[in-house]
Amino acid sequence: MSELKNKTIAEIVSDDISTASVFKKYKLDFCGGGGTTIENACKKANINVGDVVNDLLNNTSKQEAPNLNFKDWSAEFLADYIVYVHHTYIRQNLSIISEFADKVAKVHGQHEPKTIEIAQLFSSISSELTSHMIKEEFILFPAIKAKTDNPHFEFDEKTLALVKDEHEEVGIIIKKIQELSADFTPPEWACNTFKALYFKLEEFTNDLYQHIHLENNILFPKVKNL
Ligand SMILES: [Fe+2]
Ligand SMILES: [Fe+2]
Repeated sequence: MSELKNKTIAEIVSDDISTASVFKKYKLDFCGGGGTTIENACKKANINVGDVVNDLLNNTSKQEAPNLNFKDWSAEFLADYIVYVHHTYIRQNLSIISEFADKVAKVHGQHEPKTIEIAQLFSSISSELTSHMIKEEFILFPAIKAKTDNPHFEFDEKTLALVKDEHEEVGIIIKKIQELSADFTPPEWACNTFKALYFKLEEFTNDLYQHIHLENNILFPKVKNL
């Protein structure tokens, strides 16, 4: 157990992506803040480290993502995978979720003001991610591929830093939505759209966490190793 406590969150998630659900449950960041040990992250968040370690040891939920050995993939292949799987998922779901969020805010906003806040937050995620993905697909990922083909290629660290900052910003917004929605738990009186909104938001959050994890913790460090 002590061994696990001293591992960084990024290391654990890199070894087994299904542990992401445990960190999500405790709202421990494994994207931007993934470089901290579990023990330190728990101390900072005022969470019992024993609970987290227990959940990690008992973690049997392997449903969030297939166990693929992302770490062994080439940077080029991984970049393509991210675009085909995660960017596609986002593009297919942004408008559906925005539609649900706007409808719920319109119908329930007066007696449940947080639904308005959630809709506004999701709208900012939507525009932020749309330009973010273009930056990755047209600037950053081609540069990563060029660097793989030619080690002398001059890689622009500024774009990389900017993209990482954007991950952090989006991470903060999605965490706020998670808090406002009480971990995506609809109230008892919720209508089907309300339920669907929270279901989709949870699915979107899981996908986004995995997506940013693949970029920050696996793809980008590969560039440094080239
Ligand atoms: Fe991405
Ligand atoms: Fe990204």
